[in-house]
Amino acid sequence: MHNPDRPFEVEVVERVEETPTIYTLHLRFTDPGIERSYRCQPGQFNMLYLYGVGEIPISIVSDPDSRGPVEHTIRSVGRVTRGMEMLRVGDRIGLRGPYGRGWPLQEAEGRDVVFVTGGLGCAPLVSLIRYVVERRERFGRIVILQGVKHSDDLIWRRQYERWQRLPDVQVLLASDVGGPNWPYSVGRVTVLFSQAAIDPDRSIVMLCGPEVMMKSSIERLLAIGVPPEVIWLSIERNMQCGIGHCGHCQLGPYFVCHDGPVFHYPALRPWLGVTGF
Ligand SMILES: Cc1cc2nc3c(=O)[nH]c(=O)nc-3n(C[C@H](O)[C@H](O)[C@H](O)COP(=O)(O)OP(=O)(O)OC[C@H]3O[C@@H](n4cnc5c(N)ncnc54)[C@H](O)[C@@H]3O)c2cc1C
Ligand code: FES
Repeated sequence: MHNPDRPFEVEVVERVEETPTIYTLHLRFTDPGIERSYRCQPGQFNMLYLYGVGEIPISIVSDPDSRGPVEHTIRSVGRVTRGMEMLRVGDRIGLRGPYGRGWPLQEAEGRDVVFVTGGLGCAPLVSLIRYVVERRERFGRIVILQGVKHSDDLIWRRQYERWQRLPDVQVLLASDVGGPNWPYSVGRVTVLFSQAAIDPDRSIVMLCGPEVMMKSSIERLLAIGVPPEVIWLSIERNMQCGIGHCGHCQLGPYFVCHDGPVFHYPALRPWLGVTGF
């Protein structure tokens, strides 16, 4: 039996350069038995291990039901992510997971689904958006609000444009700094709320991104009458074990790796955005 503390070996089968600092790795298990049995939920993450350098948590962006390679979109910020940037097709790394609690799929069924994301915060939500789009009959309207710092930071632009053309889907994009070819809104993601067709009585809301952005978005949502009970959010913390053993990811009474990263807003409200937590 596989020890959950030991990584599986995966091979890079495709590498996509999204921007100069963001790349997507498509990873295939070298053991076909693991490849067949691997299952994940939208919102879960894997611990990726660059041998000899270190291990980091990264969200899964592929549709959970696709039996192809597992996709991860990564921004280079430090030691491990810069090392992984050098990986090419055929290179191998370690993968443990999937870990954590994903998005509340059952609660979302039959409701309008509103996604609010900031920056690369969209990564944990992308697999859920793909999931909902592929199963349209089970959900109501889809509203996607995505904010980025600079127009050059918008990845998956073609994917957003494709979603925008689908019936009953509203996609609104904003950039703090718009470039010459930026046809969307300029400002923080919260500028988009005035254009968003959100029905507070029918919606469930999923948020992901910097905590300050999620906090101000939640204030806007509550102000238009969205009840706290339909708000869910994904949280990031520095992690080491990923399985609730080391305490590195503690947030109030929770371990983000084990009790999250997706949390019900009413449970997290006392600790959200509080310095020291
Ligand atoms: C559940 C979860 C899902 C994640 N999903 C993704 C994803 O899909 N794509 C992605 O690019 N990143 C994701 N991250 C963040 C990613 O894990 C960190 O960027 C990574 O650990 C940095 O490692 P490093 O060795 O390259 O950088 P380091 O050398 O460790 O640090 C570089 C800088 O990044 C900061 N940093 C390190 N870890 C984190 C963190 N967890 N959150 C915020 N800042 C951090 C450090 O304080 C430092 O300033 C996720 C984190 C969590 C907890
Ligand atoms: S990372 Fe070790 S307890 Fe969460």
